[in-house]
Amino acid sequence: MTHDLVIKGARVVSASGTTQCEIGIKDGVIATLGHDLASAEVIDATGLIALPGGIDSHVHISQPSGPGIEMADDFTTGTRAAACGGNTTVLPFCLPEEGQTLREAVAAYRAKAEGNCLTDVAFHLIVKETDPVTLGQDLPALIEAGYTSFKVFMTYQGLALSDRQILEVMSVAKAHGAMVMVHAENEDAIEFLRDRAERTGETAPYHHATTRPVPVEREATHRAISLAEIAGVPLTIVHVSNGEATEEIMRARQRGLTVFAETCPQYITLTADDLDRDGFEGAKYVCSPPPRTRDEWANIWRGIETGVFDLFSSDHCPFRFVDTAGKDAPGARQSFRNIPNGIPGVETRLPILFSEGVVKGRISLDRFAALTATNHARLYGLFPRKGAIMVGADADIALWDPTLTKPIRQSDLHHGSDYTPWEGFTVTGWPVRTLLRGVTTMQDGAPVAAAIGQHLTREAPDVLR
Ligand code: URP
Ligand code: ZN
Ligand code: ZN
Ligand code: ZN
Repeated sequence: MTHDLVIKGARVVSASGTTQCEIGIKDGVIATLGHDLASAEVIDATGLIALPGGIDSHVHISQPSGPGIEMADDFTTGTRAAACGGNTTVLPFCLPEEGQTLREAVAAYRAKAEGNCLTDVAFHLIVKETDPVTLGQDLPALIEAGYTSFKVFMTYQGLALSDRQILEVMSVAKAHGAMVMVHAENEDAIEFLRDRAERTGETAPYHHATTRPVPVEREATHRAISLAEIAGVPLTIVHVSNGEATEEIMRARQRGLTVFAETCPQYITLTADDLDRDGFEGAKYVCSPPPRTRDEWANIWRGIETGVFDLFSSDHCPFRFVDTAGKDAPGARQSFRNIPNGIPGVETRLPILFSEGVVKGRISLDRFAALTATNHARLYGLFPRKGAIMVGADADIALWDPTLTKPIRQSDLHHGSDYTPWEGFTVTGWPVRTLLRGVTTMQDGAPVAAAIGQHLTREAPDVLR
């Protein structure tokens, strides 16, 4: 067979292990893994590592964020940054605007993505209403149409669902075959702590962290697992930040429950002290759950190393810093309550885990691939088309230089935000070329292709098939 493109010389992290071989690509698909392959075009990847293109299954793009607040990334900038960070697929969340049905929201979100993406995309849904039309008609129809995962919130006014509502949403997931993702923080406890902090003048960004302490997350994690057990559904706990929540997940698995877990770069590299930086700088680090302590980094690492965590995602949720539609929203300097939650990270997720995990000897290349691509594809119904370098899969590949060492700089990044929380954080190992279905989308840190990303129709999660 003559291929359209062959990648030669790389160590290939394939679905069946890490080997030295060539990757033959034909019609955008991996056609051959072998040696001495014939091709019209060759990429010499000597000295590089070929990893499956990153799948970031937790990003926020063009998400409605309340009156006057604007997310810093649309599909153009968000997927451009993703591709430059070695990703080939992202899964943002579709959140209905005020007065929009879930189905209307999906149609509008599809239109926003269409023709603007440099990665492939698929959407999770956010379920914030539990009326009969949403749960009886819209959600079942959308699951049948391939929107096979949705997030429910236990915190945030306007988004948080009651336990009863969560059970009702889980029942729909059970009946129609979808994955429920939970943001586990106890809203009542947060409101109590926040009101009390404000009364005593503790209003600086740092108190975002002190009013969302570990027990707030641990309790909600335990409750979410119990609700999933009652409803009889698998569950994914997203953005786990600490050891006690991790232990809840381990205990659930010991009882035989199917619980998946996700963590993020902020929980192994940032601390609550970052929210205490001079002036208003701390606002740059306000996200939920908040960054914790160095001791908690160690707890999260143990979870990553021992397999408690299935997913390593960015929770990219970008706002601009010098912007009254962003972190400097009206009232934000008077109280942390008014600072939009979220930090940008889609372009830095993979280099941070590669450097802190692979280069420092904590995880293998195979585990890196599982945490950043394969498990995302399996859990959210994209496997075997996506998530692994194997014959028959899309030729979604990131070529890494494992020796390239440089600090993260906002000036090198491609997101719409005007800062990175990791400014000056030095990493070793960077993706130097990204290929989406065989087409180069990033080379040497710069986006190169037109917006060739497609919307992907998903299957049910592996665990439900
Ligand atoms: O602070 C965060 N993480 N904002 C993004 C929304 C969410 O809860 O994932
Ligand atoms: Zn050979
Ligand atoms: Zn969340
Ligand atoms: Zn999120």
